[in-house]
Amino acid sequence: MARLTLISALVVLLRGVSAQSQPPGVTAPLARICGPNTAKVVCIDRYASVMPYHFFRTPSEGSTDISFAQTSVPNDTSFGLVSTADFLVFDQRAYDVLGANPTYDLVFNVSDAVHEAPVYVPSLNKLFVSQLAPPTGYLPQLVIDLNQDPPTLSEFISDPPVYAPNGGTFHNGLIYWGASGGNNSIGGTEQRSGIRTLDPHTNKTTTLLNNYFGFYFNTVDDLFVDATGAVWFTDPQYSWFNRLTDTPPQLKSASYRFDPATGSVTMIDDTLIQPNGIALSPDGNHVYISDTGAETGSIIAGGPPGSPFNQTGVRTVYKYDRVDNGTHITGKRPIWYAQDWVPDGLKVAANGYIVTGTGPGVDVLDPFGVLIVRVQTNFIVQNIAWTGANLTDMWLVGQGGIARVRWSLAGQDLTKPSS
Ligand SMILES: *[C@@H]1O[C@H](CO)[C@@H](O)[C@H](O)[C@H]1NC(C)=O
Ligand SMILES: *[C@@H]1O[C@H](CO)[C@@H](O)[C@H](O)[C@H]1NC(C)=O
Ligand SMILES: *[C@@H]1O[C@H](CO)[C@@H](O)[C@H](O)[C@H]1NC(C)=O
Ligand SMILES: *[C@@H]1O[C@H](CO)[C@@H](O)[C@H](O)[C@H]1NC(C)=O
Ligand SMILES: *[C@@H]1O[C@H](CO)[C@@H](O)[C@H](O)[C@H]1NC(C)=O
Ligand SMILES: *[C@@H]1O[C@H](CO)[C@@H](O)[C@H](O)[C@H]1NC(C)=O
Ligand SMILES: *[C@@H]1O[C@H](CO)[C@@H](O)[C@H](O)[C@H]1NC(C)=O
Repeated sequence: MARLTLISALVVLLRGVSAQSQPPGVTAPLARICGPNTAKVVCIDRYASVMPYHFFRTPSEGSTDISFAQTSVPNDTSFGLVSTADFLVFDQRAYDVLGANPTYDLVFNVSDAVHEAPVYVPSLNKLFVSQLAPPTGYLPQLVIDLNQDPPTLSEFISDPPVYAPNGGTFHNGLIYWGASGGNNSIGGTEQRSGIRTLDPHTNKTTTLLNNYFGFYFNTVDDLFVDATGAVWFTDPQYSWFNRLTDTPPQLKSASYRFDPATGSVTMIDDTLIQPNGIALSPDGNHVYISDTGAETGSIIAGGPPGSPFNQTGVRTVYKYDRVDNGTHITGKRPIWYAQDWVPDGLKVAANGYIVTGTGPGVDVLDPFGVLIVRVQTNFIVQNIAWTGANLTDMWLVGQGGIARVRWSLAGQDLTKPSS
């Protein structure tokens, strides 16, 4: 109560000060400490939709992300709170997401390599995570043992090894990996990008898919499995940009549905520049795919490696409706333009909220693309997965860090039949 009164007084004071020179509609302070005190929670007033002049956010460029928190707003010093927050609250519904005792912990410092494909195996209470190069040729995955307190992180090699999983999910007791790399001598054998499974109890892997009518996939990236067992996946071109494959793209960037029962692969979308995260709504009616086309490189053999960030490029989450007896998608519409960097991994919570890794944090959106809350990290988040008995622990994996959020937003239970 006392704090509220103080803040109200401050609001009046700041409004008075800036009324002369600032546009009508400026609300000050833009940011204030709020919510439960088990973490650093900062509320943003009205999405900071009217900032006092002169404000400026330097565009991101190349490999450097300039986050929202780094926006310069000298005439509202409250904005400085933004960079200190674990959770940025934009909408009242954030309080239901956070619950009474939200926490944020950086649990592991890891290398600057891309960390991806977090998959929770409930029967082992372990979280499998992949690590891509560097170092060149890195073959193991990582496994986080949640039976230990604190959890432990160790290397894991499957039999046979699977190179560079870039996305993963859990279905019918198996981890499904989008294996993104390829050449003719990885761990002594040839591997090409495709879909592989791991039985986490035997450590055995199998290959479900490794070509499209003889062509190599570019980068089987992220995937989900629907109730019929069909695997929906994206195939952007990053493995060539990052030299995880020795062959330049042979196929257009696209997304597909693969039916393991018959072996058929059917294109579901070919309009995205770099289709990346892909996820299914809990009711099975909608598919979300992110396009990270703002990071695109040269597909020419002999061209420069890498995929530098393009500030005005595509970094959008699209929503689609499922049609044709659930086998295709239509009605593509953009629902979210990432506020930071690109929307990489993308998952849908049990309540239908969308969670996407965007630069140093994740955005939580309602099914219509309204931002509810952002989790801020000090590393670029590639992907997320929920763990724990109630699936209310959410792990964020990325370049330099693995973090855990504990809150009330539960993940979908992948051990139950999906829609
Ligand atoms: C904003 O603050 C700066 C100093 O940080 C000051 O020079 C400028 O006049 C202020 N602008 C307005 C519009 O109040
Ligand atoms: C991660 O590294 C930072 C900086 O070196 C250090 O302060 C922090 O304690 C480390 N955290 C963990 C969980 O190892
Ligand atoms: C194939 O990839 C592995 C893993 O990156 C690497 O160690 C090896 O040198 C590559 N071989 C060729 C022929 O490119
Ligand atoms: C699978 O790998 C893990 C980690 O290396 C090991 O602890 C476990 O014994 C292996 N399981 C089997 C059945 O080989
Ligand atoms: C950045 O992306 C925009 C939109 O796709 C495109 O028009 C522009 O050419 C791109 N710039 C570069 C340098 O690739
Ligand atoms: C629609 O999908 C269901 C579930 O896969 C299948 O059993 C049914 O045969 C399909 N119907 C048609 C007309 O293809
Ligand atoms: C799971 O939820 C139940 C019911 O809300 C609660 O009693 C239990 O403590 C929770 N377990 C964990 C591990 O969070």
